[in-house]
Amino acid sequence: MSIPKLPLAVDHIPDAKRHVYEQEPILSGRGLGIMFGRVVGLDGVDIDLYPGEVLAVIGDNGAGKSTLIKCLTGAYLPTSGEIYMEGRKVDFKRPQDAREAGIETVYQQLAVIPALDISSNLYLAREERRPGPLGSVLRMLDKKGMATRAGEAVTRLGIQTIQNMGQAVETLSGGQRQAVAVARAAAFGSKVVVLDEPTAALGVKESGMVLDMIKQLRDNGLGVILISHNMPHVWEAADRIHIQRLGGCAGVITPQSHDMGEGVAIMTGAKKLVAEAPA
Ligand SMILES: Nc1ncnc2c1ncn2[C@@H]1O[C@H](COP(=O)(O)OP(=O)(O)O)[C@@H](O)[C@H]1O
Ligand SMILES: [Mg+2]
Repeated sequence: MSIPKLPLAVDHIPDAKRHVYEQEPILSGRGLGIMFGRVVGLDGVDIDLYPGEVLAVIGDNGAGKSTLIKCLTGAYLPTSGEIYMEGRKVDFKRPQDAREAGIETVYQQLAVIPALDISSNLYLAREERRPGPLGSVLRMLDKKGMATRAGEAVTRLGIQTIQNMGQAVETLSGGQRQAVAVARAAAFGSKVVVLDEPTAALGVKESGMVLDMIKQLRDNGLGVILISHNMPHVWEAADRIHIQRLGGCAGVITPQSHDMGEGVAIMTGAKKLVAEAPA
């Protein structure tokens, strides 16, 4: 059982990436809607994310970007619409459900615990017990093992500025905290990684590392949703760009089909996207 794919801006997909779009989407939303009292959070949004692509989501403040990814990842229950993974309907009731399905999310409000050290933060809500009865009966955490593996994850992702996995996260800079949250998602996301403004607190060098990490995840066949206000980052890293406006989707473009100025014009309503013919 699968659902019909949304039309793509196929004319503007480079030949080298076409195979990506011949696959089934890994994560889809259809008609997603949510109201906050009388405020429209989302107004019937459709979205397809393919394995092996970076789908950026751009839009003005309040356009519904964070709400959209919260609905897709179990943080909000949409009041209408459906969510599908690999064509099968899913029913995420909490973020843990999406996580168990292979979706890791870094929400805009960072979910790190400042007083805990880096490796504990990396393993938050997925702590590993010590082998044998020490773990199974006494529930003792495998702190040494977690620190070693956290160190490996951080090194693999190229965040060499973090020296000591036992360092409390509150002693890190905003950028380093963000890097820990992104590293956590990258290390554990098996199918989809969703990043809400991951470079907002980062300097140029750290942003570059996060963008490289995003491309690496994409090249490993994961689907990545990247929400960002930074248009150069979006145009550098994205394969396709979903434009949110006033709770709805104003269109999907690619960095090849539209330049940044046109993207921003669609985002603000100054320009309308000419509808693509259905595929
Ligand atoms: N928990 C909430 N309660 C009430 N209103 C909300 C809530 N979350 C989002 N909204 C409203 O929904 C709209 C979309 O917000 P949001 O998704 O955060 O926008 P964006 O991430 O694009 O800046 C805004 O009008 C916002 O105020
Ligand atoms: Mg937001």
